[in-house]
Amino acid sequence: MNVLMISPGFPAEMAFFTRGLSAVGASVIGLGDQPSAALPTTARKALSHHVYVASLADEAAVLQTVRDLNQHVRIDQVECLWEPYMMLAARLREEFELPGLNRSQTEPFRDKELMKTVLDRAGLRTPQHDSTETVAGVWAAAERIGFPLIVKPIDGAGSADTYRVDSVADLNDVLPMIGHVRRVSVEEFIDGEEFTFDTVCANGEILFENICWYRPRPLQARSHEWISPMTIALRDLSVPDLRDGRTLGAAVIEALGFRDGFTHMEWYRKSDGEIVFGEIGARPPGGRTVDLMNYATDADLFTAWAEAVVHGRVSQDLDRRYNAASIFKRAVGSGYITGHEGLDRLLTECGGSVAALDLLPVGAHRRDWRATLISDGMVIVRDYELSKTVQIADRFASELTMHAS
Ligand SMILES: Nc1ncnc2c1ncn2[C@@H]1O[C@H](COP(=O)(O)OP(=O)(O)OP(=O)(O)O)[C@@H](O)[C@H]1O
Ligand SMILES: [Mg+2]
Repeated sequence: MNVLMISPGFPAEMAFFTRGLSAVGASVIGLGDQPSAALPTTARKALSHHVYVASLADEAAVLQTVRDLNQHVRIDQVECLWEPYMMLAARLREEFELPGLNRSQTEPFRDKELMKTVLDRAGLRTPQHDSTETVAGVWAAAERIGFPLIVKPIDGAGSADTYRVDSVADLNDVLPMIGHVRRVSVEEFIDGEEFTFDTVCANGEILFENICWYRPRPLQARSHEWISPMTIALRDLSVPDLRDGRTLGAAVIEALGFRDGFTHMEWYRKSDGEIVFGEIGARPPGGRTVDLMNYATDADLFTAWAEAVVHGRVSQDLDRRYNAASIFKRAVGSGYITGHEGLDRLLTECGGSVAALDLLPVGAHRRDWRATLISDGMVIVRDYELSKTVQIADRFASELTMHAS
């Protein structure tokens, strides 16, 4: 089985998915804008061949390159787990008549308006929504939906250009800030807790599911630098509070006709218990969440995904053993990391629960906390009990301080 893996070395987790494909017996051909020598070793070692292209965004050139490649080696499958090139992958599948999502099946995963329209038709609860390319259109949508609202790009990521709007005055303030966004989604603001529903599927069956609880909600985390955002992969998915979210998630996957690979959905649970759909991607979650799932299960979800897409099954034991929480740290001050405070005490008192510790070293330049959830570093803690996991994660959020100047 020859699998063409788009961008096998970037973002960083792609190398592990690439390794997974080779571990389950596929012959993996890389296609990406990193020359072989620039690939992470993990990816390079897993590839039987790598095709370098100057830009993955130049679809016509990439197509021609792959046509030429296909003269020499038969391509059986195209995989891409990175959002910007999902459409390219779909285009290649159509060209070579391969299984997997084609362009029209990919579109609802990319266009948040179309996504919700398809789900509305299936009778699933989405926020009231509209999309528009004009200022007048935004006002009309606001009039129809009412405040509070969310205004966001139709194909955004990382909560960029996403605003909560509570009033006419807010909308007046926000409009100039989204002037560069071609098409916006205007949505009913859903107040509540926010969760993920992530799966690995094969042949339309869910073989693995995961739910993360975001603390706080991503939009809040992205609006205030002092927050240490947290993502908690929950151990026990059988609790009543999660039941309707899981049912919704399975219905969404079915409505969109998704069959093989990773999905990452977000959903809301209102205080009255109502469950509302947020969004879905035909790819794994970012922000090191696949690592988090690995710490929750003591398994290797990178390889589990590969086995699912290549062989249609998962043979690893994916039982959930822990709640696993990632805490992302943002240094106080700008410039270079000068040190941290509180870590020694936390490691003495709760080191047994720490599964991973990946903080920027002293001397490193701070990362842009708005552009990357990882920010200046990450800690993963885990425990069998949720209350204990939350308690320890809260300590890392509040008692560990990184400094920069
Ligand atoms: N209708 C809504 N009601 C309440 N909050 C919302 C709504 N739409 C978006 N948000 C908030 O904004 C965040 C970002 O929106 P969304 O998930 O649609 O876009 P994104 O930029 O793709 O997200 P991601 O951060 O997952 O890449 C959500 O996680 C949520 O906190
Ligand atoms: Mg989102």
